[in-house]
Amino acid sequence: MIMIYRTGIMFALVCWLLCTVRASAQSSFLREGNGDVTLFDANWRFARFGTQADGTVKAETTGMEQSGFADGGWEQLDLPHDWAIAGPFRIELSGNTGKLPWKGIGWYRKQFEIPEQDKDKKIFLDFDGAMAYAKVWVNGHYVGTWPYGYNSFRMDITPYLQFGQKNVVAVRLDTDSWDSRWYPGAGLYRHVWLVKTAPVHTAHWGTCITASNISENKASVKLDVRVENQGNVPVKAFVNTVIYTSPDGKKIGRKVAATSEQSFELSPGSFRNASAELTLDHPVLWSLEHPGLYIAQTTVHTPEGRKDSYNTVFGIRKLEFTPRDGFRLNGKRVDIKGVCLHSDMGAIGTAINITALRRQLTIMKNMGCNAIRTSHNPPAPELLELADQMGLLVWDESFDAWKHGKRKNDYNKLFPEWHEKDLVAMVHRDRNHPAVIMWSIGNEVMDQQDVAITKELTDIVHREDPTRPVSNAYNDPDGGRNSGAAMALDVMGVNYFFSQQSKWDQDERYKNKPTMGSETSSCVSSRGEYFFGENYHNYQVTSYDVAWPGWGCSPDEQFRINAKHPHLLGEFVWTGFDYLGEPTPFNSDETNLLNFRTDTAKRRELEKALEEIRRKNPPSRSSYFGIVDLCGFPKDRFYNYQAHWRPEYPMAHIMPHWNWPGRIDSLVPVHVYTSGDKAELFLNGKSLGMKAKRPGIDFRLVWDSVIYQPGELKVVAYKNGKYWATDVVKTAGEASALLLKPESETVSGDGISLCYITLLVVDKNKVMVPGAHPLVKFSMEGPGEIVATDNGDATSLVSFKSTERLAYNGMAQVIIRAKKGATGVIKVSAASEGNLKMATQKINIH
Ligand code: GAL
Repeated sequence: MIMIYRTGIMFALVCWLLCTVRASAQSSFLREGNGDVTLFDANWRFARFGTQADGTVKAETTGMEQSGFADGGWEQLDLPHDWAIAGPFRIELSGNTGKLPWKGIGWYRKQFEIPEQDKDKKIFLDFDGAMAYAKVWVNGHYVGTWPYGYNSFRMDITPYLQFGQKNVVAVRLDTDSWDSRWYPGAGLYRHVWLVKTAPVHTAHWGTCITASNISENKASVKLDVRVENQGNVPVKAFVNTVIYTSPDGKKIGRKVAATSEQSFELSPGSFRNASAELTLDHPVLWSLEHPGLYIAQTTVHTPEGRKDSYNTVFGIRKLEFTPRDGFRLNGKRVDIKGVCLHSDMGAIGTAINITALRRQLTIMKNMGCNAIRTSHNPPAPELLELADQMGLLVWDESFDAWKHGKRKNDYNKLFPEWHEKDLVAMVHRDRNHPAVIMWSIGNEVMDQQDVAITKELTDIVHREDPTRPVSNAYNDPDGGRNSGAAMALDVMGVNYFFSQQSKWDQDERYKNKPTMGSETSSCVSSRGEYFFGENYHNYQVTSYDVAWPGWGCSPDEQFRINAKHPHLLGEFVWTGFDYLGEPTPFNSDETNLLNFRTDTAKRRELEKALEEIRRKNPPSRSSYFGIVDLCGFPKDRFYNYQAHWRPEYPMAHIMPHWNWPGRIDSLVPVHVYTSGDKAELFLNGKSLGMKAKRPGIDFRLVWDSVIYQPGELKVVAYKNGKYWATDVVKTAGEASALLLKPESETVSGDGISLCYITLLVVDKNKVMVPGAHPLVKFSMEGPGEIVATDNGDATSLVSFKSTERLAYNGMAQVIIRAKKGATGVIKVSAASEGNLKMATQKINIH
């Protein structure tokens, strides 16, 4: 009796454990898509051929794709990997691509085993992106290629595998054959995944989920699931999908609906679409404030018991692009306050890192940004996952070139054979993300007046996703309109030249076409630099936000234009972050001229300027366009956008700093950004007067006749007659100490997460010393590593891997990571020569 009782308990316990295991296996997932997926990032071997980091050329050896090839001497590393970010920077390399040695031919090899029991499965490698011209072999057999370095692609490696034995995958990448207008990175810079499915399964990116008739009470959700039989025998497949809420786009929440089971006979090599429509009651809508998500779990099974599952994250939201009332999300007008972002993450390069990306987006959101343009290519999938989760809109872009390149080896080389495959890949991968609101078929492409290509590309996108508008970013909007090419689009994308908007508003053909500021402003500045009587000095740009190239304008001017044309959808500022490459105005690259396609006088002027820059060969290697610098430290411009984009957030920001020993009794203009409507400035307690903004006209307050005296400069801002916000800048004394300020005092021991720590040079009262630039040496104790350092100086040619660097305008940055599986504490220190007190900071590993 007792035995039976105990056995009963044991049985119940085992059942409970099994259920728990099954429930927890099901309760969250690693990655959208097929259910059996593991990261394939660890333990690769890497060797570089073609152009080397020092500019010499090393010929490729033969046989590197063969399994028996001796790669023991190759570098061992984990992905993601950007082979060029460690540098060295070389002054003679083009500033346009960051003066980094990204050209070359990279070979990656990895050994792996697939167990015997998987021999009836399909085995795939999913590459999130490989720069560039990827070619893949398994066990010496050629599997396939995907040349465009920004797209994700799948390789079916099943036929070449030896089950239960050692296998070798080899990947050849070639950036010697690729040209770029910015730093593109190089290598297997995004994740690679090993995916196992049943022979009958949901196809790669095989789900398409759309919602319609959306209200607070109900939404119709349409599911299209492509089921394919990649086996050798005919099968009967049963398909069904269950929809769950998801708190974060990874965890599976409450079941809310399910399709009934459908069945098909599938002959080998065939596919069928399982379509179903469901009604969700009281749907959780995806919005910027509450980005509610759902997960659809699709199961395909056969009578023999083969099972395949597939997870699709999606959101329910209503998009409207109107010619007269801008963009509406769920029926509510939303001004698109966007930024363009390139894909590098500053000092860590292009090797995708979720902490770095989340940090970028968080900084942008804090500024009031609500949208990202993935200039000028499909982003890492993680960007879209984060945008879904964080509530950011995305303009998803495909190309910077079509048939005619801006440079010799642009996408023009791939266009004839690949444009359709690349567009389809982008749309299929990204179409379920609620964050993606618009597709872009190009940026300032040379063929922007080509009606046939514009129509063809638009039709491809419409065919693959009829629910979102298609746009194209014009730098010759008149040409685009007059040729008729822009008629094929749903949304007119205009880069710059907005001063002509009033004229375009009268154009009968286009006045009903919603218009987006696909690229705006291009203001340039260097954090913490202020010049008087000149905008540029020593290859830095004044931070008064008064400098931009001939095609650009100040943020303030753009706000004025936007205010005059409230029917515009909004803007994407060039750019949110500084990025590697394109250091305009110290960029000698001839593609700059493309910004003046029709204005010959301006072209000639620019040609002369470029010639001059070429002669001088400035050290500049990263852009000045960012609203924040390469470290993510806000420039003054950040507060200009914050003031305008977050009008309800009380803030005021004074510029410049207040350390001008050489200007006592001289003029130092003071500018203030505030979300208030007026403000009073005080120098050492004495009022310098109240200034008020004229609505729609002023976006900063300017006191241009302040006579400098050291001390304290304070601004008090008001809104609607009431106190609103204040800001103070103080004259700093002698630099006396270093200070380390971590953005987080903990870091995960997952071997991936990063911890960003800011270094400040301060005086004895902990006031940052603006002009200080001591050499700082970073070190660490404990189970971690220094991943990179930076200081935001666009002219620094010190490798990001260096643990020593000068502070730039009082600041620097060290990025650290805990070793995988580590516990305990990491101690980071910063020391300098002279009498600066060193700083130490503990970071707990969790
Ligand atoms: C645009 C171009 C961008 C960038 C920018 C700099 O015309 O689309 O990629 O070059 O100019 O202002």
